[in-house]
Amino acid sequence: MNEGRRPPRDSGGPRGRRGGAGGGARGPGRTPGGRSSGRHELERLLSKAGFCSRAQARELVLAGRVRVNGVVIVDPEAWFDLVRDAVVVDGRAIAPARTEGRRYLALHKPRGCVTTRSDPDGRATVYDLVADCGAWVVPVGRLDLDTSGLLLFTNDTQFADRVTSPDSHVPKTYLVEAEPRLAQEALDALARGIELADGPTRPAEVELLGHRGPRTRFLLTITEGRNRQVRRMVKAVGAKVERLERVSIGPLELGELERGRWRELEPREVAALSRAADEARPARKGTKSGPGGARA
Ligand code: URA
Repeated sequence: MNEGRRPPRDSGGPRGRRGGAGGGARGPGRTPGGRSSGRHELERLLSKAGFCSRAQARELVLAGRVRVNGVVIVDPEAWFDLVRDAVVVDGRAIAPARTEGRRYLALHKPRGCVTTRSDPDGRATVYDLVADCGAWVVPVGRLDLDTSGLLLFTNDTQFADRVTSPDSHVPKTYLVEAEPRLAQEALDALARGIELADGPTRPAEVELLGHRGPRTRFLLTITEGRNRQVRRMVKAVGAKVERLERVSIGPLELGELERGRWRELEPREVAALSRAADEARPARKGTKSGPGGARA
């Protein structure tokens, strides 16, 4: 009923009105007004909330996808209050309490969903799975379409860079099922390092879990994040990865998190991973870094 209409300018914000564009005591001001630190232009407010970039916010508003206190607002420069006004995008509330500060999530990525924002083939994306978190978060690194397991999201780009930087050798552990069975020599080769087209891999840690039928199950801990690295390493020793799941990143474990679900990381977990990222920088003089060795 109110689609595309702007509330009147003299009312300071649509707060308190229900549905109608014209009945409020306060409309969306065209000026900052007041002294509340939560007051911003709508496009800025959405980007400040970590929901999306300012340019994207502008598009969303112009497309009529943003409601404030139940009213569609099509003016990206109208002022609102992040704390007092109820801002909703495509039916999703941008909750004030969650918009301040940084967000860190752990997702259990299922197989068959892509780590890109939109897929030309229309496949499910990891973004769909965290869409209800109320913030504009991005994945920390990526997992292949057919890899499942722990994938972190954040709106803290510095944190993401620290964890994913090629300089930061945070160990990541994968549960691998490979076929045909791998002999101990092959597992040792994975641990020592494999010559790949983009250079040798760093020493890794291999823990054999057992052989079942034609497959070998093992845990592989690597300290790099090259494209399809585990699959390429396993291929180089004559087998094919049939199942791949990331079970941990540094001190963070996938644990019992249900497939397709996300949870908020606790501050102590964020701190532990940040520490791990710092500690896992390349060996400085006199220090030793990186795992190396196959455990049967
Ligand atoms: N290695 C791979 O081969 N694929 C992944 O998704 C992650 C690590």
